[in-house]
Amino acid sequence: MNKRKLYKKNSEFSNIKLNSKIIGSNIIHLSHIDSTMNFAWKLFEKNVNNNGTVIIADEQSKGRGRKGAVWYSEKSEDILCSIMLKSRDKNLSDLLIIASLAVVYTLEKILHNENISIKWPNDVLVNKNKIAGVIAESSSKTFSNFSLAVVGIGLNVNLKCTGNIKLPKNTTSLSEIIDKKVSRLETFELLMKNFDLLFEKLNQNQDIISEWKKYLDSIGKRVSFNLKNSNDLQIGIVEDIDELGRLIIIDNEGKRRCLYDQTIRFID
Ligand code: BTN
Repeated sequence: MNKRKLYKKNSEFSNIKLNSKIIGSNIIHLSHIDSTMNFAWKLFEKNVNNNGTVIIADEQSKGRGRKGAVWYSEKSEDILCSIMLKSRDKNLSDLLIIASLAVVYTLEKILHNENISIKWPNDVLVNKNKIAGVIAESSSKTFSNFSLAVVGIGLNVNLKCTGNIKLPKNTTSLSEIIDKKVSRLETFELLMKNFDLLFEKLNQNQDIISEWKKYLDSIGKRVSFNLKNSNDLQIGIVEDIDELGRLIIIDNEGKRRCLYDQTIRFID
């Protein structure tokens, strides 16, 4: 990392009023970083009492996607954030569920008449193009009555996708969909409020899975997938999502398969 100033002074993000219970109690705005996930974990190493602290960056040099993939973004145009959580809930799939739902609710406020869906386990799509991805990580350190987790959200706000060869095919952003620049700050505010409300529901054991399922585009679809630690490609039909957020697939031989976080590909 070079010696450019990291922390943004007089940031527009430090003045926002979220009125949220936990999320965004402290917002750290960085101009550039390798990954907001790495930064959050370093902060937890120094102090575990960072529940609700949010790190937002203008630019990442090594944005992390799922399974070692790189998350590409451009300076200041998108939401690249990590939310630090200290909670009793150890289930990362619950955190993935609330993160993707928070993105969906945010998009619904900004977009009208567009088809917003979730591709299991963590992609948010608009008209079948990926606009956001979420990841959740937990600490390997154990504590007696709580656990530490970091949720990362990458949401393309003003990213120019058309003709950008660095991006995977079928990537989109808010500005590409509505054809004008979108306020990153207002989008971030909405996102944090939605995450906060959903996190509260999760802590009160309210049902979030059935709401999430309404947006899933996978049920009933024919997919290909790999089982854990195997390279053999399997084919099956997605039957359901269980109470832990796992994907239930009936394979070609009629066997019930349970997927945790493997990638699925739609066939047809
Ligand atoms: C995916 O779809 O693969 C998940 C992508 C998550 C990207 C975000 S961007 C902010 C945060 N920091 C990272 O390094 N990754 C997440």
